[in-house]
Amino acid sequence: MSYVIGIDLGTSAVKALLVDREGAVRGEASRAYPLFHEHTGWSEQKPDDWVEATIEALKELSEAAGINSAEIEGISFSGQMHGLVLLNSEGNPVRKAILWNDTRTTAQCREIERTLGDKLLGITRNPALEGFTLPKILWVRQYEPQAFEQSKLFLLPKDYVRYRLTGELHMDYSDAAGTLLLDVANNQWSAEVLQAFELPASFCPALVNSHELVGTLLPAVAQRSGLPVTVKVFAGGADNACGAIGSGILEEGLTLSSIGTSGVILNYENDKEADFAGKVHFFNHGKENAFYAMGVTLAAGYSLSWFKNTFAAGESFDQLLEGVGEVKPGAGGLLFTPYLVGERTPHADANIRASFIGVDGSHRRIDFARAVMEGITFSLNESVDLFRKAGKKVETIISIGGGAQNPVWLQMQADIFNATVVALENEQGPGLGAAMLAAYGSGWFASLDACADQFVKRGASYTPNAEAVETYAGLFRIYQQVYAQTKGLNDALAAYRK
Ligand code: XUL
Repeated sequence: MSYVIGIDLGTSAVKALLVDREGAVRGEASRAYPLFHEHTGWSEQKPDDWVEATIEALKELSEAAGINSAEIEGISFSGQMHGLVLLNSEGNPVRKAILWNDTRTTAQCREIERTLGDKLLGITRNPALEGFTLPKILWVRQYEPQAFEQSKLFLLPKDYVRYRLTGELHMDYSDAAGTLLLDVANNQWSAEVLQAFELPASFCPALVNSHELVGTLLPAVAQRSGLPVTVKVFAGGADNACGAIGSGILEEGLTLSSIGTSGVILNYENDKEADFAGKVHFFNHGKENAFYAMGVTLAAGYSLSWFKNTFAAGESFDQLLEGVGEVKPGAGGLLFTPYLVGERTPHADANIRASFIGVDGSHRRIDFARAVMEGITFSLNESVDLFRKAGKKVETIISIGGGAQNPVWLQMQADIFNATVVALENEQGPGLGAAMLAAYGSGWFASLDACADQFVKRGASYTPNAEAVETYAGLFRIYQQVYAQTKGLNDALAAYRK
């Protein structure tokens, strides 16, 4: 038997999956690493924490019972997007990585808009958002000139890990698309954007396709991880692209709902000119010459884990959510907006914060829990709404992540999205997409689509319940007003934040 490994470099942990030729998961290993929030709005990690955690997870997998590690043929990656890793001339990070959910760069976003004007959307196909990479580069240049002076090249998180594993420097199109430095439709670094911000071409690594072979393991890494030196390393992709691959979102008409720390609604696109006027993100897919449009809720799963950690510390999610199915849609008039760390779609606003509206003396903790789940789903529905308004049909949505682990949440998604929601059998998230890139790259399949036919299995399907659809449609209209009604209050409260 031969195997591939998919490494999902997430925000809280790295998870590695060992997958066989049939697409069966034969082992998994995970290691967590810390997040650093030195100031409000800041979110950073140490790049070498990712590397150490990845090597340890690989070691655990290569020692998995019943496996001859020599039969592991290839590995590939899925990575948290946008995080800035700056390398000096020795190839070492000059500072901690600044992550996708860090919102310190509002002023740099405005500077990018002023400098590029219409070219920003024309070339990068995306608006300047705090989470993206270019604003982070400009922030470091402005506030940490000494660190910037030493910076010779930038990488994204998974590219740094792959570099440490192989010694080779690359970035794939799907991740590069989230930097605001890529000419998305033409698959190349934009000389125009680089020049506008006085960045040399040498600041960017070589671009590759996600399934491309980019090297083999360094002998020291092979020894520590227990993998053979011959193992082929394939580039990998952005976590959302890999989530889409691992869910079989590889043709027009398919939509993904993914609830991880952040949440996304993602729509496959063949047309590189598809125009959403910057209202949703438009990125290169991990499948060659394909794209996807995507709306992002910054605090999706994070909202529920914040709620659990704050009000039910020490309990499991199952305990917290016991009985949530008996609470009627609308949580007895309690509405939650999940703006714990600001928002992306449809309100690109780093200052907005969350609200519970309609708290009543009769509300119990379980009503609040239901309101949190509904608020996250309403936020995702804003993206579904944008796609529909842009003329896209959203009829079948594959659900992955936290929102797919609970049948109540799956039905809630069907009712709020007013679409059929399908769960996957034995869902593995972006890690499976990464393993599929390695399987396709290793030549096991003639195409990614053929690999998906073998690896991705649809499970239970949830259809909208007419009565709940109507209730939620009314609540969604109220939900949509909360942003505008609380914006001024939150702007004023910002001065009191730590
Ligand atoms: C996408 C985004 C998040 C991260 C999470 O634009 O910022 O979904 O990719 O890792």
